[in-house]
Amino acid sequence: KKRIVVLISGSGSNLQALIDACGTGHIAGEVVGVVSNIADAFGLTRAENAGVANQVLSHREFSSRDAYDQQLIQCIDEYTPDLVVLAGFMRILTPEFVQHYQGKLLNIHPSLLPKYQGLNTHQRAIDAGDETHGVSVHFVTEELDGGPVILQAKVPVFAEDTASDLAERVHEQEHRIYPLVVNWFCQDRLTMSENCAILDNEPLAENGYA
Ligand code: GAR
Repeated sequence: KKRIVVLISGSGSNLQALIDACGTGHIAGEVVGVVSNIADAFGLTRAENAGVANQVLSHREFSSRDAYDQQLIQCIDEYTPDLVVLAGFMRILTPEFVQHYQGKLLNIHPSLLPKYQGLNTHQRAIDAGDETHGVSVHFVTEELDGGPVILQAKVPVFAEDTASDLAERVHEQEHRIYPLVVNWFCQDRLTMSENCAILDNEPLAENGYA
């Protein structure tokens, strides 16, 4: 079984989906540790309830991004993970951090990348009048929200949608596709090579919708 460490900053509903999928055998792995940069993140309670080791590493106690990320690497590596999963971890990572976990660092981003990198993705999709929005799971590289996409899912945008309506619709898809991708990795079917995601020896196009 692969050892998975999950990084969070908030509610942790994706963390919950991953823990649940490990529990039911839909992921051939185990969440062995959770690290949050926010002390009162509800995801910590979810980890606690599931009996998963968890800890807070607050960025506020560090004078630089480099110093924080170095300590974060130390925390994570104590769990000897095979895979590190960002699940609503709302921090920009240093190149050193990203390189340390090259090829074994996944992120989920609430937009159809390369559209809407960064924050407020749901409101931006509404403001642009998009009829379709969605979510992307990708390998993390030094380019912010720019690493190779593994899997995307689309949702419709309705005329009366608020950002939170849309976020809720996207979350349902997140909870479906993140466990799928994590399981591919745990089954040794998914790798990154030369900035491309490879599944079962086939390079994945950027429009691999689930
Ligand atoms: C998710 O929607 C995820 O896509 C997003 O944060 C939310 C976390 O929800 N991630 C980002 O915006 C990364 N820049 P959760 O805490 O309930 O899993």
